[in-house]
Amino acid sequence: MDRKGPESRLRMTSLANNQARGAMPLQKSEAVMNALVDELKSDHERFRRYVSAFERETTLLANGELSDYSLIQQLAEFFSALPDEAHHKIEDIIYVQLAERLADDMSGQGDNLHELFDLCSDHQDMAAFAETFREGVAQMLSGAELPRAELAELSVQYIQHFRTHMFNEELHFFPLISEFLTSDDWEQIDSKIEAVMGDARLSGKVSDVEALESSLLAHLQSSH
Ligand SMILES: [Fe+2]
Ligand SMILES: [Fe+2]
Repeated sequence: MDRKGPESRLRMTSLANNQARGAMPLQKSEAVMNALVDELKSDHERFRRYVSAFERETTLLANGELSDYSLIQQLAEFFSALPDEAHHKIEDIIYVQLAERLADDMSGQGDNLHELFDLCSDHQDMAAFAETFREGVAQMLSGAELPRAELAELSVQYIQHFRTHMFNEELHFFPLISEFLTSDDWEQIDSKIEAVMGDARLSGKVSDVEALESSLLAHLQSSH
């Protein structure tokens, strides 16, 4: 699996910054944009695999057929940790930059961006869903009465929301950023990503999520 972590992303964007003095050269900004969009799309492929595994496990849970809760617990923990993963942080930064760019655009594309797709709110909603589900699984594992129907309903909503979210990003968000963001925008995005991911790495959150994902991947591979 081609898995570039946030560290490699930072190295790539730092290179862009080192070479830029003043405005970033256009081809360099395009290289940064293409690398980031490729990375986000590659993340989606991994996330789709986890969502499918989650769907399989929660279907078994809903039917009372799940005997081993360890995988569903790992999936719930990973999903609830996603706000600390690079993917959503980077998308939020790019989305805010896009909203600012489209606010200045006279073509009308920016008028309905939030109605079309409010990416940051979606990320917050998904995080809240995932945290509620993680707490429910934790209660279940600590011996509380199994809130199976509640968890099953929550998981159906979460899975649908997650899939629609990624679909909308690929249908609307990625094409808009490719079309409208300028080399100056990418220079600002580059700096913001470095600052945000630098803080996240220093706090240990990035390595925590990477460790969660590594053990989740090992579990998925061993269960096939
Ligand atoms: Fe997203
Ligand atoms: Fe995404």
